Amino acid sequence: MNKVAHIISIGMLLTGSACQDLEHSRQVDNPDVPGKTIALQVCSNCHGVTGVSVSPTFPKLAGQQKEYLIDQLTDFKSHSRADPNAQRFMWGFTHLTDAQIDALATYFSSQSTVLGDASDLALIDKGNAIYHSGLPDKGVAACVSCHGQHGEGMNQFPRLAGQHADYVMKQLDVFRQTDTRPRGAVMKAVCANMSDQDMRAVAAFVEAFPPEGEAPTSPLVDQ
Ligand code: HEC
Ligand code: HEC
Repeated sequence: MNKVAHIISIGMLLTGSACQDLEHSRQVDNPDVPGKTIALQVCSNCHGVTGVSVSPTFPKLAGQQKEYLIDQLTDFKSHSRADPNAQRFMWGFTHLTDAQIDALATYFSSQSTVLGDASDLALIDKGNAIYHSGLPDKGVAACVSCHGQHGEGMNQFPRLAGQHADYVMKQLDVFRQTDTRPRGAVMKAVCANMSDQDMRAVAAFVEAFPPEGEAPTSPLVDQ
């Protein structure tokens, strides 16, 4: 909550007009609580106030595609996205209404993305090649064709740029080994022949997503 809203609501409290102040509600399972209030009071504890989480256990949501966020929240709610961390952390949110899910997705998708640091350049370089060209020998499709030139995603194709490498790595493994993500069929095919090392490389690349020209294997545009 910003300062102004805080001051206004304290004002309302003092004048006695805030008995039904849902902006301050501790009952975040109430269907009338605005999605943004839930984002700031509940989701922020793990995903960060602006969707930029610190720990890689918790995926970044900032700048994520709205449609993708709606799909995932719907799948957690119906308990159909069922990998262990989904169960442990996200299955409790069965009370979210469609309107709240929409508002949460709008809120997080409109926050600014924060890219990670580029530490292991050799690994990132290898990941860049996989991202843009796939691994033709192994039948691994190029990620760029679905996740976009800048890793930004589109509609139901998630943004990858900026996501924590450890989270990306973990999800690739979930797709490869399990059927616990209900919309994961395409990714299961993509991951089937990837080695752990391939996954680690592409995960390191997407987290940092260095601009073209700084990463040697991407096509250079002379200016
Ligand atoms: C207690 C910690 C916690 C809280 C609170 C929490 N989350 Fe999560 N969330 C997680 C974890 C952990 C995952 C990753 C699950 C996995 O590994 O499959 C996740 C995954 C997600 C994803 C999937 C992201 C992706 O890239 O696929 C979305 C969307 C999401 N959470 C939204 C929310 C929203 C909206 C709220 C508030 C209503 C919320 N979360 C509250 C821990 C939390
Ligand atoms: C043919 C299209 C397609 C290609 C090619 C593709 N993806 Fe995906 N990817 C998807 C779709 C669709 C989803 C969303 C699946 C879901 O909703 O569970 C997804 C989801 C993911 C996720 C989960 C994101 C999250 O936040 O949980 C990761 C990570 C990922 N893809 C990485 C990759 C990588 C790395 C490559 C290249 C090696 C790749 N994808 C190639 C379509 C594709």
